Amino acid sequence: MRQLFILYIILTIFSCKRNEEHILTTVVLENSKLALSLTTDSLDVPWDLQYDKTNNYIIFSEIKGSIKKIDLSDNSVQLIKTIPNVFQQRTTGLLGMALYQPQAGEQYLFVSYTTKIGAKIYSNLYRYTYKDGSIENPKLLLQIPGNTGHNGSRIIIGNDGKIYWATGDAAIDANAQDVMRLNGKILRINIDGSIPKDNPIPDSYVYAWGFRNMQGLTLGANGLIYTSEHGDAVEDEVNLIRPLHNYGWPLKEGKNPPKKETDSTKAVSFTEPLQSWTPVIAPAGIAYYGNTKISEWKNSLILTTLKSQSLRVLKLSEDGQKVIDEYILFKNMLGRLRSVLVLPNGDVYFCSSNRDWNPQKGFPKKDDDKIFKLSLTDKTTGTILQPIKTATNSPIAKLSGRALYDSYCASCHKTDGKGIKGTFPALENSAAVNGDVKTLAQIISNGLKDQTIGGIKYDAQMPAFSFLKDEEATAIINHIRTNFKNQAPTITVNQYKQTKN
Ligand code: HEC
Repeated sequence: MRQLFILYIILTIFSCKRNEEHILTTVVLENSKLALSLTTDSLDVPWDLQYDKTNNYIIFSEIKGSIKKIDLSDNSVQLIKTIPNVFQQRTTGLLGMALYQPQAGEQYLFVSYTTKIGAKIYSNLYRYTYKDGSIENPKLLLQIPGNTGHNGSRIIIGNDGKIYWATGDAAIDANAQDVMRLNGKILRINIDGSIPKDNPIPDSYVYAWGFRNMQGLTLGANGLIYTSEHGDAVEDEVNLIRPLHNYGWPLKEGKNPPKKETDSTKAVSFTEPLQSWTPVIAPAGIAYYGNTKISEWKNSLILTTLKSQSLRVLKLSEDGQKVIDEYILFKNMLGRLRSVLVLPNGDVYFCSSNRDWNPQKGFPKKDDDKIFKLSLTDKTTGTILQPIKTATNSPIAKLSGRALYDSYCASCHKTDGKGIKGTFPALENSAAVNGDVKTLAQIISNGLKDQTIGGIKYDAQMPAFSFLKDEEATAIINHIRTNFKNQAPTITVNQYKQTKN
């Protein structure tokens, strides 16, 4: 009896300790408190999270090709399958998924991933039969052109039982406005891969167009569909998707007017985003919170971001047509965040992406990547955190060259100017930065592509920064010419103005 009692005490201490260790932070909202806890760690770029309501599993993909499950009764993780022939390089690989569990009949897991056959790259939509945490019988539903970047993609099943596939423009600008091509689109597809009879364009998968590189897709109240998307150097977006609407890329970005007024752009009507961000935040996975459990978040979109390393809560208007408030959580705490999932019980799961191609300063940590859980609590444990309300649409007013550089250039060339070898050239000790003012001004104003710099061929492109004010571009130039081991004379606003075109 006494021994049992001692054992009981030991077990109690042990289990308490374990629980407490796992609660990292308490998030204090107006009425509710949320515990942030670690569900699992040491993953390799988890990309998409799905919920199996029959078995209480989370099914997730990792970019190199594995599909795994977490049994939520004990948080144990198991490999379901390694998908063969996934082409993984930088942002390509095993990407979005959707688990389809209808009331009756077969269950399916839809997966999208990149393949490379010879020199050709493809984005693929596959369907696996799903049963109790295992998958079999892959069927290729659709294959479209891919590229070394801009492959999207996310998948959802709409309230109408159709697949919606958000595809990237495959790094070819002309794709998004060409209704005959399937890149840069929301595609609507039957469960068997055929074209639905009631699609808005007869015999076409195309449902909406004008997209660059969507990274999030979710189903809101009343069947509304929302996406998140990366702009080039400006204007990341969250959009509300309507059939046959044109979302503007590459002719129009964010809430800005079309870049060039031509007869053809005048004739088109573009749909503006619900929310857009400049400087860019690199939005990724998005999930609709329709639950009442966390009452402050009811009718919100929860958005993960990569560059701005945060979770954002976008409060929607009652009809879901507008974003009326925005809050930031975990800024610079957990690193890049990739995907988010809301469970029917109101818990929120999300994952980090610190082992991907573009880790931020101080990451990856030894036990990255991780899946976290946010759930209601009545205790306050660990550090305390409150959401920060964003200043809506504040321009970068009168900032220094360093701050402008960090906002517009550092996502690629890095805060220290070292770039990423083979992907983004270093601006440190750079002939281009120290050299001729005209060439440098034109690189910044017009962008750059297809260069070989220091013997390395860069296949990524440098976007044009012609939208910057002359004063801002000059401040950036002077920052890079006097930092990163560069020692060139500064330039005047007039010099920039006269040489940029
Ligand atoms: C989206 C990523 C990205 C952003 C943002 C970006 N660049 Fe670049 N930059 C590149 C790439 C890629 C290249 C090489 C392009 C090529 O191969 O032609 C490049 C090239 C350059 C070069 C030429 C380097 C050389 O050695 O020839 C300069 C200078 C430069 N960038 C400055 C900037 C500045 C200043 C900013 C911010 C205003 C900026 N870049 C923002 C991706 C980026």
